[in-house]
Amino acid sequence: MDKPKVFVTRVIRDKGLELVKEACRAEIWPDELPPNREALLERVRGVDGLLCLLTERIDGEAMDAAGPGLKVISNHAVGFDNIDVAAATERGIPVGNTPGILTDATADMAFALMMAAGRRVVEAEKFLRAGKWKTWGPSMLLGLDFAGASLGIVGFGRIGQAVAKRATGFDMRVLYYDPSAPTPPPNLPAISTDLDTLLRESDFVSIHVPLTPETRHLVNGEFLGKMKPNAVLVNTARGGVLDQSALYETLKERRIFAAALDVTDPEPLQLDSPLLELDNCIIVPHIASASVYSRDMMAFLSAKNLIAGVNGERLKHCVNPEVYS
Ligand code: DGY
Repeated sequence: MDKPKVFVTRVIRDKGLELVKEACRAEIWPDELPPNREALLERVRGVDGLLCLLTERIDGEAMDAAGPGLKVISNHAVGFDNIDVAAATERGIPVGNTPGILTDATADMAFALMMAAGRRVVEAEKFLRAGKWKTWGPSMLLGLDFAGASLGIVGFGRIGQAVAKRATGFDMRVLYYDPSAPTPPPNLPAISTDLDTLLRESDFVSIHVPLTPETRHLVNGEFLGKMKPNAVLVNTARGGVLDQSALYETLKERRIFAAALDVTDPEPLQLDSPLLELDNCIIVPHIASASVYSRDMMAFLSAKNLIAGVNGERLKHCVNPEVYS
């Protein structure tokens, strides 16, 4: 019997790619850039399974282009806002994702960005390279203190909690806002609070909510206006959670101390984005999960989900398990 036919929208790490090649007749998009819409719709035609990245929009049209044989959509990411899950569910297609294995890498990056913004690491490095370092100065490039400061975490799932764990090691007080987690896990000294209190009391605010219609532009002018004047905002969640124009105005007028973003809207960020003019804004290109272990495991788990799906088995990590009932 023929192996199942699948389309993989980019070359993923060997740990997953080898599995896919062994179990399936795989077409693997070879370029560094994702397939454009036309190429995607053409390549999915007649496949049993699709392994896609967060850069691909997989909606009802893409599912219909694949045809009735499509048995699984496996996303090489924990976030799945690029997929119309309702459309997949309607068509009885399970959607897989890769939770858990990028928690630490993402929390590390949130913390790295928080420290870089709070201690002005990028600005200081540019200062040095520009030949501005003339002497050691008592007030040169002063930043913020972490010990004793309050960190407000918006969204207290796996990654939010991992950030909290790191913060306790830095002697920070941790507040969080997450209506779905009213009590913190045992041994994690974090205080559940409402969003206004969190914004009023936090010196650092880190965002860890998925992008949904409800969270789009959650971080808007009103949200930013409630933050302390010396606070730092960190976003490693999704660019769409933040209104970038509102952030630009806030940072330009120095109404908060700084921001650090791993994610933007759109991605890639256009080079004419006004955010890039600001010295109190650090932006990196969506690399929070870019550690060897995380990317190997994202490849492995997405391959496993794909292979399970094309073989009619239940996915280990399925975001719409109702397709099985
Ligand atoms: C995810 O898996 O959703 C991450 O954003 C990838 O970096």
